[in-house]
Amino acid sequence: MPSPPLLSLIVPTYNERENLPIVAERIHKALKNYDYEVIIVDDNSPDGTTQLAESLAGIYPIKVICRKNERGLASAVLAGFDHAKGEVLGVIDADLQHPPERIPELLREIQAGADVAIASRYIPGGGVEDWSLTRRMISKGATALGRLILPSIRRVKDPLSGFFLLKREVIQDVELKPIGYKILLEVLAKGKVSKVKEVPYTFKERLWGESNLDLREEVNYLEHVFTLATREKEIRRFLKFCLVGLGGVGVNMGIFWLLTRVAGLSGSYNLVAVIPGIVVSIQSNFILNDIWTFRDRRYGSMRARAPKFNLVSAVPAAIQLSMFGGLTQIVEMHDLWALLLAIVVATLWNFALNFLWTWRKGETEQAPVSPQ
Ligand code: GDD
Ligand code: MN
Repeated sequence: MPSPPLLSLIVPTYNERENLPIVAERIHKALKNYDYEVIIVDDNSPDGTTQLAESLAGIYPIKVICRKNERGLASAVLAGFDHAKGEVLGVIDADLQHPPERIPELLREIQAGADVAIASRYIPGGGVEDWSLTRRMISKGATALGRLILPSIRRVKDPLSGFFLLKREVIQDVELKPIGYKILLEVLAKGKVSKVKEVPYTFKERLWGESNLDLREEVNYLEHVFTLATREKEIRRFLKFCLVGLGGVGVNMGIFWLLTRVAGLSGSYNLVAVIPGIVVSIQSNFILNDIWTFRDRRYGSMRARAPKFNLVSAVPAAIQLSMFGGLTQIVEMHDLWALLLAIVVATLWNFALNFLWTWRKGETEQAPVSPQ
């Protein structure tokens, strides 16, 4: 029989005195045939969890880390990872909402080749026990938002699970800096993960005590997701595109201002004065997008791309005008909201079409032009 990998299981605790003996016993029962260590990371809980953990360390293969100057679930898990000796690292809550009996199954998935094995509430066979509709909705909504914004976690149904195992290599030389407490999100977004497996489980009610997490964590979660999003290439590209577009608005309005306020075009010439700004800003947008936003997608000649960009830009101008007209006249929307909505639609159109057509990938044999 091949010898099983050494597992280091991190158990973060804050005021878990009542739960700890039970979870320790259940972990031991579940893993008695495996070579494992448990690392309890306690943040100097006022209820004496640290002392209790130390007494358990005489019975089970447990190490205790007591942090005196730090608080927080995610950083506690990272401290545990730092001390872990195992080839496989794992995380489980101390309050028995995560059934330790599932660990061997997770371990088997890792042994069968998964880089990360996640205990999942959101695959068939999994679920949550006695959650209010509101809590279910918040959890589902947060999960859906994360999966929408972060392509790297899309393949996972429960990326916010706090119960998972991973191969040590996944986070080797990776700088993990989670904001809030969703450590798995950080691992999936930054780690070297090619194969992920999910195993169903039911998230139980807390055995003793109360959850330590509050509304602030919802805000932390949003910040975390958006911070991770800026690492994703295509999202960065879109942000660049929006920035260039914003610059274009400046160019457009600047030229209009010069023509009407300095050169003295006014009255019925106003309409004429609008056109040069539009034309010039489309060209400046094109150049900036070509040398910055889409630098890595410049196939073929710039002269072929310029007319495409102009054509793509002409359509949303028409869309914008008609949307603006329709929204203000027919639906009687406030004009600024209507303008904003029209700009959003035009930006999405512009980005999509330019991505798919003007800077279309690799349709010619020419390699991308190297950045200037
Ligand atoms: N060391 C340390 N420091 N541990 C903490 C801290 C802290 O500041 N805050 C919480 N913990 C420990 C708790 O003692 C518990 O073992 C575990 O982290 C989870 O905390 P709970 O307060 O029970 O969180 P929850 O039940 O609301 O959320 C859990 O479920 C989510 C859904 O699966 C967590 O496991 C989340 O990670 C998980 O996403
Ligand atoms: Mn809990």
